[in-house]
Amino acid sequence: MAVSIKSAREIELMREAGKRLAHVHEELGRAVAPGISTWEIDALGEKLIRDCGCVPNFLHYNGYPASICVSVNEEVVHGIPRKDRILKEGDIVSLDAGLIYRGYHSDAARTHAVGRISEEAQKLIGVTRQSFFEGIKMAREGNYLHDISNAIDAYVSGFGYGIVRDLVGHGIGTALHEDPQIPNFAQKRRGVRLQAGMTLAVEPMVNAGTWKVRWLQDGWTVVTRDRSLSAHYENTILVTDGEPEILTLYEGEGL
Ligand code: MF3
Ligand code: CO
Repeated sequence: MAVSIKSAREIELMREAGKRLAHVHEELGRAVAPGISTWEIDALGEKLIRDCGCVPNFLHYNGYPASICVSVNEEVVHGIPRKDRILKEGDIVSLDAGLIYRGYHSDAARTHAVGRISEEAQKLIGVTRQSFFEGIKMAREGNYLHDISNAIDAYVSGFGYGIVRDLVGHGIGTALHEDPQIPNFAQKRRGVRLQAGMTLAVEPMVNAGTWKVRWLQDGWTVVTRDRSLSAHYENTILVTDGEPEILTLYEGEGL
């Protein structure tokens, strides 16, 4: 397994790809409200991506039919946008988006509240987001890949939530999915040694109940087995010899 180390020039392109995706997410987050369809969210996402001179990397990836994955409530990831799937007050919705800028990919996900949601749902979203930050504290040169996985699992498990095992984070660069795979649950082996210049998509998916999931008949949508709520939080990061740089955050986000 070879993990690519990006050159200074490539890192600049990854930063730009990340910045543009952060802008897309900021706008998508503003659009989330009761009454909007998941199809409209995808259409807006695709327009935002193309308007900033980029290309959606999810569209037609392994046959995926849209640019944005829109996953509601017990849907974990890869929800397919539909005209008749209308968001309503109290739902939570995970938006996963990615783009290509001059040959370089970025990938990020956020879970949003639709109007007012339960405290329980709010807590799940907050813990999922924080688990990403707990994980990436370990993402620095000299540490090992699975230090990230172990930190995410330790944090999430403390709340009694289920950390999804069937889907993982990944390296990212000139392809959406590069080596290494990045599990979000505790590992026995330590994994590859992290080096400055690696770019990674770290993406915990957290279920309020069991970690177990199943796939719907559409072949894409992943749902929790026990129908409990699920949240997703993902950023593309750059490993350095100090703190990691988060390439897909927008200013003032979540503050
Ligand atoms: N962010 C997801 C991932 O990292 C979404 C890609 S699946 C796709 O794998 F098919 F929709 F592209
Ligand atoms: Co990803």
